[in-house]
Amino acid sequence: MTKEKETSLMTLYGKALDNRVEHPILGDKFADEAVKRIDYDFARLGFERGGHITLPMRARHLDGWAREFIAANPVSTVLHLGCGLDTRVFRIDPPASVLWYDIDYPDVIELRRRLYPERQNYAMIGSSVTDLRWLEEVPSDRPVLVIAEGLVMYLSEDAALALFRRITGTFPAGEFVFDAYSRLMTRLISLVPAVRASGITLAWGIGDPLELEKQVPGLRLVDSVSFLTMPELVDRLSVSRLQRVTSGVMGRLGFYRRLIRHLRYRF
Ligand SMILES: C[S@@+](CC[C@H](N)C(=O)[O-])C[C@H]1O[C@@H](n2cnc3c(N)ncnc32)[C@H](O)[C@@H]1O
Repeated sequence: MTKEKETSLMTLYGKALDNRVEHPILGDKFADEAVKRIDYDFARLGFERGGHITLPMRARHLDGWAREFIAANPVSTVLHLGCGLDTRVFRIDPPASVLWYDIDYPDVIELRRRLYPERQNYAMIGSSVTDLRWLEEVPSDRPVLVIAEGLVMYLSEDAALALFRRITGTFPAGEFVFDAYSRLMTRLISLVPAVRASGITLAWGIGDPLELEKQVPGLRLVDSVSFLTMPELVDRLSVSRLQRVTSGVMGRLGFYRRLIRHLRYRF
């Protein structure tokens, strides 16, 4: 588990730590149980910088959009791209009328299989999401929800657009929900020494979310949320009055609001 695959352990750990506090954000007991079963030095991840808050907050927000889609489309397909070790299918616990696919690299999926039980109408696919042959395993006759959390920044723009176009061209209707970095954020994160040392490449930054409507025919932006200025996130991260004031000032700056966005598109 190296490079971007190792990040699935980081995000799992953030959710496990959240489950251990008195008032958790996500309360993901499945993540907590999984972390206890993995022999890995999680302590070296250095979560003092807020990963135990940002990661469960990000997951909870995307869970909310996923629940809304499933409530409106109880007979549908979910493609959870770059699922890592995330336990979304257990948190959301969709009805059996939903076909749910978790997709990640083969070695991540192999670890998933050892950690989590099987469920009805649930399948895991070990493949790069950009090798589009995996889509041949998935029936394409229902509305589809595509969830990609902490993924698209690792994909090249061309490969991501080919994947999006293939999905919009194959399924009758659906939604895409994902978090995206701005181009500046992609560049800033790439400069972080730990990221450089890990060899991870951050490739795709989205400047203007409306651009995607032109790049992927049929796609329509229905929501764009500035993650770093979400009030509950600011509240949880601000331990001092100074930090609260600083966040308030930064939150008025356009570039800051664009650094990380949660995007929701329909087609
Ligand atoms: C930051 S983790 C996020 C995992 C999970 N979505 C979560 O939020 O906990 C990124 C995940 O994307 C996966 N990933 C990155 N590029 C991928 C690709 N081309 N195909 C499949 N999975 C990919 C990695 O293996 C990793 O599990």
